[in-house]
Amino acid sequence: MSDKISRRQFVTLTAGTAAAIAAPINVLAKNSTSTKTITKRLIKENMNVLVLHGSPKENGNTAGLVDIATEELKKKGHTVTRMNAVDMEVEPCIACMECQKSGKEFYCINGDDGTKALKAMIEADAIIITSPLYFAAFTAHIKPLIDRSFAMCRKFGTKQHFSFVDGKPVLFLSTGAGPYKNNGEILEGSCNDYVRFLKLDKVDFFYASSKPAVSEEKKQELRQLVAAL
Ligand SMILES: Cc1cc2nc3c(=O)[nH]c(=O)nc-3n(C[C@H](O)[C@H](O)[C@H](O)COP(=O)(O)O)c2cc1C
Repeated sequence: MSDKISRRQFVTLTAGTAAAIAAPINVLAKNSTSTKTITKRLIKENMNVLVLHGSPKENGNTAGLVDIATEELKKKGHTVTRMNAVDMEVEPCIACMECQKSGKEFYCINGDDGTKALKAMIEADAIIITSPLYFAAFTAHIKPLIDRSFAMCRKFGTKQHFSFVDGKPVLFLSTGAGPYKNNGEILEGSCNDYVRFLKLDKVDFFYASSKPAVSEEKKQELRQLVAAL
């Protein structure tokens, strides 16, 4: 994650105060001289958080970030379900556009694990998508699922654009051997497009260099980020 990215603060509200949620407001963030957008977002209690893990390694560098996020979310009483892309059979999107013809119902012609994962995303309260950098992009394990997510939105580019995951918080976690600049930031660009297509609420793109290892400082940074949700 780049420090240039706006950090958001989250307000835990009870259902009774949900009506008090307003549009994003600009305030001067603590310890910063720049104006940052602070979103007042309803973070429900006992959320079901879905992790879509894109590394082929179930216990690798990126999984280390997942473990930290999971630990912090569980401390707050949330439930975390992890799906490993490497264990799933997800065919690539073939751009048949049948989903786009199906109106307000979620639909994908494919009945494979990809469609199951998309349905799980729709049912989840929040989503974490992870991927190590592979040539500055998503891994081939998670990319088919990213593309198939097109089935969760309609009429992109028009005023009628809508999504079945509209407003859902999404946190991206990524590691790579190299730096964020000209490397991690390239994947973040793709993540931003994903957020735009699906009308998601981007919590953050958290990037950590894994060479020689993810630093304790970075781990602590992620812990604090998730703990603040
Ligand atoms: C095929 C391949 C491509 C990679 N491309 C990049 C890259 O473009 N940028 C980078 O910083 N690291 C790259 N890496 C290194 C991994 O992103 C890095 O080691 C990562 O932390 C691995 O995470 P994991 O243990 O969760 O799989 C690449 C690794 C592989 C195997």
